[in-house]
Parts: sequence; structure tokens; C-alpha cells
Amino acid sequence: MKALIVYDSVYGNTEKIARAIAEAITPSGEVKVLRAGEANPSELESIDLLIVGSPTHGGRPTPAVQNLLNKVPELQGIKVAAFDTRIPTKLVRVFGYAAGRIANNLKKKGSTLIASPEGFFVTGGQGPLKEGELERAAAWAKGILESKQ
Ligand SMILES: Cc1cc2nc3c(=O)[nH]c(=O)nc-3n(C[C@H](O)[C@H](O)[C@H](O)COP(=O)(O)O)c2cc1C
Repeated sequence: MKALIVYDSVYGNTEKIARAIAEAITPSGEVKVLRAGEANPSELESIDLLIVGSPTHGGRPTPAVQNLLNKVPELQGIKVAAFDTRIPTKLVRVFGYAAGRIANNLKKKGSTLIASPEGFFVTGGQGPLKEGELERAAAWAKGILESKQ
């Protein structure tokens, strides 16, 4: 299995989650981790699994992730999953979160969503991650691999 994890991160928290996910799925195949601004859309053509993650900014993915999604070609036959990082307060909940928007975007391109979009919590705008989130990310990633879809 060839997997690509694309993420963006301002303060490093989403990057840590992306790397925990990569580590969890590495035993199952070849895994590459790329920052959204460095990913070339053509790299998405020859993979089996694409996981996209972003910090939630105003309820959305960052511009770098959004730009990449806008440039991504058809994803027919590719399995996908999406995650974000977010703050656990009621106030921001009204804006929604990045992961669902990423997943919808990827689905529109013909890919198969193999896990529910997931959010991982930071304790403040700059982090750090809430305790246990790296482990939860690893478990989420392993769950993706067990998906029958
Ligand atoms: C400009 C900006 C907008 C943000 N908007 C939201 C938001 O709408 N909802 C939310 O839960 N967190 C919001 N946050 C907090 C981010 O989710 C948090 O900074 C991020 O998870 C940290 O990840 P990073 O270290 O990878 O950048 C915002 C942060 C910034 C800087």
C-alpha cells in the first residue's frame, strides 16, 4: 500500500498528529508525509490512500490545504480520510471544522472516504495538544487500515 499524508501546521501540533498517523500506518506500507504547500498534485495520482489534515482556521482548512484541494485531480479509486486540529470550546463550534470540509471536497473528486472525519484537540490556540491525542491519532489511523471499504 502506498499512502500519502498531507498536512498544514502553523504551530506544529497538526504536524505532530500527521507524524503519529504516519508512524501508525508505516508497518502496512510505504508512507510519505508532506506539507500541503510542498505537495505536488501529481503525487496524488499513484497512491492507494490519501490522508489530509489541517488546523481549523475560522472553521475551515488553511489556505495551503485549500489551494492543494483546488488543484487536486480526480481521485477515483483512491481511499481517503481527513482530520483537523481544533480548540475544544463551544464558541468556535458554530463555525464548523476543517476535517468535514476536507472530506467533502475529496469525496467530490470520486475518492472513497474510509473513515469519519476526525478532530484532535489542542489546549490553546498554539497548543500544546491535549494529553492522549497522539495516541488517539495512532488508533484512528490503525482503524482506517482495518476498514473494509
Ligand atoms: C487564524 C486562526 C483561526 C482559528 N480558528 C479556529 C476555529 O475556527 N476553530 C477552532 O477550533 N480552532 C481555531 N483556531 C485554533 C487552531 O485550531 C489551532 O491553532 C490549531 O489547532 C493549532 O494547530 P497547528 O499547531 O498545527 O497550527 C484558529 C487559529 C488561528 C491561528
